[in-house]
Amino acid sequence: MTDDALRDDLRELSRMARELVEWEEQLGGTGFPEVAVPTGEALRPRPDVPDVQVSGSDRGDRRPRLAQIAEEAAGCTRCDLHRGRTKSVFARGNPEAEIVFIGEGPGYHEDQEGLPFVGKAGQLLDKMIAAMGYGPDDVYICNVVKCRPPDNRTPLPNESAACLPYLEEQLGLIAPRAIVALGRTAAQGLGLIDETTRGWRGSFCEWRGIPVMSTYHPAFLLRNPNMKRPVWEDLQEVLARLGKAPPGRRS
Ligand code: URA
Repeated sequence: MTDDALRDDLRELSRMARELVEWEEQLGGTGFPEVAVPTGEALRPRPDVPDVQVSGSDRGDRRPRLAQIAEEAAGCTRCDLHRGRTKSVFARGNPEAEIVFIGEGPGYHEDQEGLPFVGKAGQLLDKMIAAMGYGPDDVYICNVVKCRPPDNRTPLPNESAACLPYLEEQLGLIAPRAIVALGRTAAQGLGLIDETTRGWRGSFCEWRGIPVMSTYHPAFLLRNPNMKRPVWEDLQEVLARLGKAPPGRRS
């Protein structure tokens, strides 16, 4: 390689390193912008974007029926996952939420507490949600399967299928304006992709007329922090679809 070519390569490398540092600075320590007020009120409306219309908006009070199916799930024996369950894990958050996050299935901490996303991945998910401008009580969080798979393995297709009626009824009752599918299993659980689909992340599909953004799971982000950037872009797309912009960063 000539000296000139070497100098060009070094210049290019230093430009890329500078960009990376700037990007990390912009995203803050967690990889997602830290905001001062993590509540839905921090979200800024974007009047230029039309509202997403969701059918079935007059669902009355959905809480009693949600409580009833949570109880059914707690005693469910539709698949073998119930054998290892400490607690079933139905949901946390707001049944009136405009946005629903769907994960794969409970892990150890969730199984112990009976709430989704309360472990390390959940802490990151809460930061992602806060960066969007929502507080934990502004959104609804649930999983494809309601019982912990042994050793935290991926749910088997028959387990996801057995649990699907719970998820379908949850989504039908809440009728959010947007869904975020966290990871391939969530997108598959909703029937949006199959195991052969490549390039599944980062674009909108629809589930019964509701826009669904499939993106990487927070547990994957803990192992691959460089993927936080595309996920943050996906979440901003979701906000834009809802006619909103994320709040300003903490100064
Ligand atoms: N991972 C999931 O997919 N769901 C949880 O509830 C926790 C971790």
